Amino acid sequence: SQSIPSLKDAFKRDFGIGTCLNNAQIEERDPKMTEFIVRQFNMATPENVMKAGPIHPKWDTYNFEMADKLVAFGKKHNIKINGHTLVWHSQLPPFIRGIKSSDSIRTFFTEHVKTVAGRYKGKVFSWDVVNEALNEDGTMRKSVFLQHLGDNFVTEAFRLAQQADPKAELYYNDYNNEQPAKRAGCIALIKKIKDAGVRIDGVGIQGHWHVGKVPFKDIEESILQYAALGLKVMFTELDIEVLPRNFQGADVNQRMVNNEQSNPYVNGLPDNVQQQLAADYEALFKLFLKHKDKVTRVTFWGVNDGDSWLNNWPIRGRTSYPLLFDRNNQPKPAFEKVIALK
Ligand code: XIL
Repeated sequence: SQSIPSLKDAFKRDFGIGTCLNNAQIEERDPKMTEFIVRQFNMATPENVMKAGPIHPKWDTYNFEMADKLVAFGKKHNIKINGHTLVWHSQLPPFIRGIKSSDSIRTFFTEHVKTVAGRYKGKVFSWDVVNEALNEDGTMRKSVFLQHLGDNFVTEAFRLAQQADPKAELYYNDYNNEQPAKRAGCIALIKKIKDAGVRIDGVGIQGHWHVGKVPFKDIEESILQYAALGLKVMFTELDIEVLPRNFQGADVNQRMVNNEQSNPYVNGLPDNVQQQLAADYEALFKLFLKHKDKVTRVTFWGVNDGDSWLNNWPIRGRTSYPLLFDRNNQPKPAFEKVIALK
């Protein structure tokens, strides 16, 4: 892997280069993988281990084992950790469903943010304080938090996080928040936080896009508009799906069925799609470089194609190719295009 150029080195004067990390990578089960990660990336986000479900499995029980290992990994290898995520409607612990009173939801919310952010005080670089609080039309998502705490919960989460870890950078993170309607909602949310005198340092645009359909215009407009609010702009979960989103057929339980239509590239990615993917990544990184004074980090949602959650979403058993490195950590044409920009 020494002969493969390093992304983090290539872009070191421009922005941080991150990846999400899964359990095997955090535990360094494969030394070659560790070496590869350390060479390519200077920032990391836990793919799952800091989410409420894994880290707070029971009302009064936390499980910090893997998150602690992640923080140790970052320290050992000089990789900055972005905590992900304190408040999110998804991947919550199962006991939440049994809670009926708003007071108890408030207690959970407050204690959770204080405890998790407090444990990693001074040890993580930043937090995705709130994740995915918005609907596509820019209104607030009807989550357990909105229902029980009202729409101030976002500001409250930032206030709590700031108290628990005053030096960590604090971000709002979402998908499709480069789209005009959702972006407007996101800007309103950010202004609301600021108007309350609470600190927010940046906004994360997840960047789960689709090959040939990357919304470059909206992305550029979003970089400008978010930066105009004084925020750092990050691309936090970048991948470009190559598989079709539309499925024919469901099984008797109305679950989508993995069939040839949903998994067309089991034997490899056709050359035309490979080239389109490379062109999309090239254009994206050109845009990031154009706005490198505003874009502070680009994080991929996976080290290589084999790690990607898109092999299992929205149904299991798909074969996807959304990243810069193939299943053997070899550079794809998209990597060559991106690195050639430097
Ligand atoms: C995904 C993980 O990659 C999967 O392993 C997990 O099963 C589901 O969550 N938006 C987010 C991420 O903010 O936390 C999600 O990660 C992908 C969508």
